[in-house]
Amino acid sequence: MYILAIESSCDETSASVIKDSEVMCNIISSQHFHSKYGGVIPELASRAHLQNISLVTREALNKAGLAMQDIGALAVTSEPGLIGSLIVGSNFAKGLSIKYNIPVIPVNHIEGHIFSGSLQDRELYFPYISLVVSGGHTALFHVRSFSEYRLIGSTLDDAAGEAFDKIASLLGLPYPGGPQIDKMAASGKYDMFNFPRSMIHTDDLNFSFSGLKTSVRYFLKNEYNNNIPEELIPHLCASVQEAIVDVLVRKTHRAAMEYESNAIVIAGGVSANSRLRSKMSGLTSAHKIKVVTPDMSYCMDNAAMIGFIAEKKFRESEHKGFESLGFVVSANALRAKDIH
Ligand code: KG4
Ligand code: ZN
Repeated sequence: MYILAIESSCDETSASVIKDSEVMCNIISSQHFHSKYGGVIPELASRAHLQNISLVTREALNKAGLAMQDIGALAVTSEPGLIGSLIVGSNFAKGLSIKYNIPVIPVNHIEGHIFSGSLQDRELYFPYISLVVSGGHTALFHVRSFSEYRLIGSTLDDAAGEAFDKIASLLGLPYPGGPQIDKMAASGKYDMFNFPRSMIHTDDLNFSFSGLKTSVRYFLKNEYNNNIPEELIPHLCASVQEAIVDVLVRKTHRAAMEYESNAIVIAGGVSANSRLRSKMSGLTSAHKIKVVTPDMSYCMDNAAMIGFIAEKKFRESEHKGFESLGFVVSANALRAKDIH
């Protein structure tokens, strides 16, 4: 059975067709225009989703060589995210559901990220540790099966991507700042400046990134009167990136040891970071831990990850329980009590 999945929780409109865990297409339309505002403007994001969603869905069906009549079920991100953006996707899915008389499977966006490693690598076996690291989340999960996973650590303040974005903005780099810092850091020395690695030695699996941002702000003000010489920016970027990556790698490794897992998945937008990927891969050579870094199209927000986990849920429920369109979207960020 073909599942048509829709994702619109933030600033990517995406549609994908999945069958038997195979991704037949994964169309992603990114709303780049937000960069001129220095961040995602929720109202503009939902309007852009409205404009794009039919086109993106049609493109997905065309690419898969299918018509709506071939689709057996829909999947849609219902939480968490920007409320207006979520409403566009879920109402679109509900509309298709009524017209074609097919069920809709609502999916938690974070679940999509958690299992993106399984989507990428069929030889990734449970249990594993999943690090979901994006502009809105920095969280570690102990994953035991497609229906059993537990939040074991998360950020107490800013997400790692938020730290990248805010520090890039202090440096006058465009939004989103993560890829800019990554690019700049390539020609910088990561040990030129020493920034704090908050909570790196604490016994828990939590993170904190707001102190790093404050530290960079004061450093720029006190050392360079907010006018750092251009030639030092790559070094600053490399040093900041190193501070963030060190904490992410250390805590993820700690989680793997604590939970006796020999596999790690990194997912979410920040997992595109080249230094994070290479330092995480270092765990394989040093500690024989398998590290799965999904392709970019499965790391960023995308509908394939939503369809993939929806298909598992649908099978597990023996295709029952998804007839009602009564589900509502929720903006709520990750809360430990919601996740089991
Ligand atoms: O998962 P995502 O596309 O959207 C959500 O936040 O849900 O993640 C976007 C975040 C942004 O904060 C962006 O700066 C960050 O991912 N990001 C990166 C890189 N590419 C994207 N951060 C560091 N290095 C990168 N290469
Ligand atoms: Zn995301």
